Amino acid sequence: MKKLQLSLLQWFQENARDLPWRKTYAPYHVWISEIMLQQTQMDRVVEFFNSWIARFPDIESITRANEEEVLKLWEGLGYYSRARNIMKSAGIILAEHNGRLPAEHDQLLKLPGIGRYTAGAIMSIAFNKAYPLVDANIERVFARLFNLAKPVKDKETHAFIWEKAAGLLPRGKAREFNQALMELGALVCIARNPRCKICPIIQHCQAYKLNLVTERPILQAPPKTIFIEMATGILVQQGRILIQKRKSRGVWANLWEFPGGRLEQGETPEMALVREYMEETELAIGNLKKIITVQHSYTIYRVTLHCYSCSLRAGRSEPVLHTAQEYRWVKPGELNDYAFPSGHRKFIRHLQNEAGLFLQM
Ligand code: ADE
Repeated sequence: MKKLQLSLLQWFQENARDLPWRKTYAPYHVWISEIMLQQTQMDRVVEFFNSWIARFPDIESITRANEEEVLKLWEGLGYYSRARNIMKSAGIILAEHNGRLPAEHDQLLKLPGIGRYTAGAIMSIAFNKAYPLVDANIERVFARLFNLAKPVKDKETHAFIWEKAAGLLPRGKAREFNQALMELGALVCIARNPRCKICPIIQHCQAYKLNLVTERPILQAPPKTIFIEMATGILVQQGRILIQKRKSRGVWANLWEFPGGRLEQGETPEMALVREYMEETELAIGNLKKIITVQHSYTIYRVTLHCYSCSLRAGRSEPVLHTAQEYRWVKPGELNDYAFPSGHRKFIRHLQNEAGLFLQM
């Protein structure tokens, strides 16, 4: 083994974080952790991972769960297609692989939600097979180690990074080595103020030699943030609140929400809310009271959500759904049993923390 690999492996042995899936490297645990880690910070993942495993100790238990409960467990992690893909994959694994994750790269790639990165992670971390992987941490480590002067997402540069990730793998050590590279990126070779002084492979770092560490990686212009403004409102009748379940396609599929939607050109939030209630439920609302404005972000969107309470005016008193698949009238306390998008969840938390508002209901 070369010096770089030895130094890195030794560093990992001494500095690896104590993570729940690192106790046994059970393939199921590695799979779930890697799916969660795709868009979520490590600290949050550990919390959600432990709740997930407590509720779903094995793959078969997932196949017996209903989607509603799975989405509720996933609430707060966002990117819900990951949870739905786990459910689909669990069904396939039970039907075609006797309930165990396959130890073949090509079979893993056939499962929904598993791409090149996750297949490499499961092959190497769970099965200790010689498959490379590249994530954002490794891109940054390599951009510095090899002093890459082009954006890491540049096609040829990206291919170069994958080649290097494969070429560097030490025999029989894929599990430790791949994790060591990611761990180095997470703990030492961090994006801002990298801790070069404690880096175990500093002698090999080309950017360090040239005093270019802070210039690497070269960043691409990030996609432009799109700002959108929305309005939503809780409608209370006899102590119960109207919620509706979104359709099974599109953003926030199958999540629950209060009616509402985007402001159109020239509309105030109040006008938008009255219009959206009518369009989505055929209910005429009035008596709007502003409660709070919350912000939340997903992908490239930054949403400002204006939140109201409202009541029914003349007209029908039960909704006719045009954009949702189901509705319910629920008690305030029951709102916690349903999975909401994070903007709505922030609104609910605010309502629950302001006891006065709920006492009025
Ligand atoms: N990020 C994603 N997967 C990881 C792992 N297995 N170890 C460290 N960081 C990671």
